[in-house]
Parts: sequence; structure tokens; C-alpha cells
Amino acid sequence: MFITFEGIDGSGKSTQARLLAEALRVTGREVVLTREPGGSPGAEEIRRLVLEGDPDRWSAETEILLFTAARRDHLERTIDPALTAGKVVICDRFADSTRMYQGLSRGDLRATVDTLHRLMIGREPDLTILIDIDPAVGLARAKGRQGHEERFEDMGLALQQQMRAGFLGLAREFSARFRLIDGARPAEEVAADVRTVVQAALP
Ligand code: ADP
Ligand code: TYD
Repeated sequence: MFITFEGIDGSGKSTQARLLAEALRVTGREVVLTREPGGSPGAEEIRRLVLEGDPDRWSAETEILLFTAARRDHLERTIDPALTAGKVVICDRFADSTRMYQGLSRGDLRATVDTLHRLMIGREPDLTILIDIDPAVGLARAKGRQGHEERFEDMGLALQQQMRAGFLGLAREFSARFRLIDGARPAEEVAADVRTVVQAALP
């Protein structure tokens, strides 16, 4: 089973992905916890290219290619082998993030993202957990973290508001695999809801 977490920066995806992985391991499942961009050595190299340095370094189209290249490597080397071995794969962000951040935020490039996805990736998650949160709260949380990977967070509140609305739209578009969870609560409460949703979907 392939599970992804989506949502704006600071919504709590990484925290919830980790808590879910721990909970499933306790029940005896084999879990691979991974993230995008990254999740394989080559994709982690591409992560540095897209998340560090001058924010204007890449055009929106080049960014789509870079994120998709990273995803292809991640899929070949990490995700597909784990799924073939019968493991549960939990991924912090996946193609829905490209649909939003590259497909929506710098003009309407959604069709380009989808075409490249069909051509080069061709896999959708079995289950996507959308952690929904007020962008002001998410941004405050994200800013509280230290690090040099700030270029998308630096785009500010207006962009995060657009991304939140976009993710809610995606949840309606792909309603069969999306589950919406309110992230503006203590992490343990959110995690309990995540476990309920995942238990219902697990074979
Ligand atoms: P994301 O991966 O969506 O950017 P993180 O899981 O990294 O979000 O969380 C961002 C920050 O907020 C971290 O410092 C984390 O410890 C904190 N955090 C995560 N979940 C919660 C929560 N439910 N309530 C308060 N703070 C949280
Ligand atoms: P991530 O490390 O998940 O950041 P955060 O924990 O703050 O949510 O992702 C880094 C950034 O990469 C994030 O701002 C969103 C961006 N991103 C894209 O623009 N396109 C993509 O396809 C992916 C996977 C991420």
C-alpha cells in the first residue's frame, strides 16, 4: 500500500508521516518512510538543486522537469521495490505537490505537470492524507524550524493560501483516494485520526 501526505508547509506532514510509520511498525507491518523531493540518493541530490540557492534560478517549466526527474529516480529505486516486496510505503509529499506548487503557483501549468506525470511516473497513491491547516498557523510553524531550505516557505502567506485552496480542490478531484484531516490540533489527536483512516483502507 502506497500512502502519501500532502498539505502546505508547516501543516504537520512530516510529523504525522513519522507517527504513522511508528504505529504501523508496532502492529508488525514493514514500513518504508520516505519523502519528496528526495527519498533516493539521486533524488536527494536534485532536492539540493531545487530547494537551495537563488529562488529565481529555475523557470517553472524547468522545475517541473527537476521534480519529476527526482520522482522517477525515487520511484525506481525506493518506492517500487518496497511495494513489490509487500511493504507499506509512506511518502511525505508526492505528485500532488507538483500539481500544486509547479502547476498552480506560477501560472496555469497543471496540464504540463499531468502530461509529464502520465509519461514518466504513471503511479498514484492508494491513499492520500491531506493535512489541512490555516496558512498563518502553518507558516508560523514552518518559520520556527531552522534550515536553509526556505525558498517555497519564503513565498509567503498569499501563496500558501492559494496552495491550501488548491489542495482542497485536488481532494474533491481525486475524492476516491483523498482523506481530509484537520491539522490545527495537538499532534496526537491528528495522529489518531490518521490511524483511523489508514486502518479503514489497509487490506
Ligand atoms: P510539514 O512537514 O508539513 O512542513 P512538520 O511536521 O515539519 O510539518 O511540522 C512543522 C513544525 O510544527 C515542526 O516544528 C513540528 O514540530 C510542529 N508541529 C507539527 N505538528 C504539530 C501540531 N499538531 N501542533 C503543533 N505543532 C506541530
Ligand atoms: P518539504 O520538505 O516537504 O517542506 P515542508 O516540510 O516545509 O512542507 O518540501 C520542500 C518544498 O518543496 C515545499 O515548500 C514544497 C516544495 N515542493 C514542490 O514545489 N514541488 C514538489 O513536487 C514537491 C514534492 C515539493
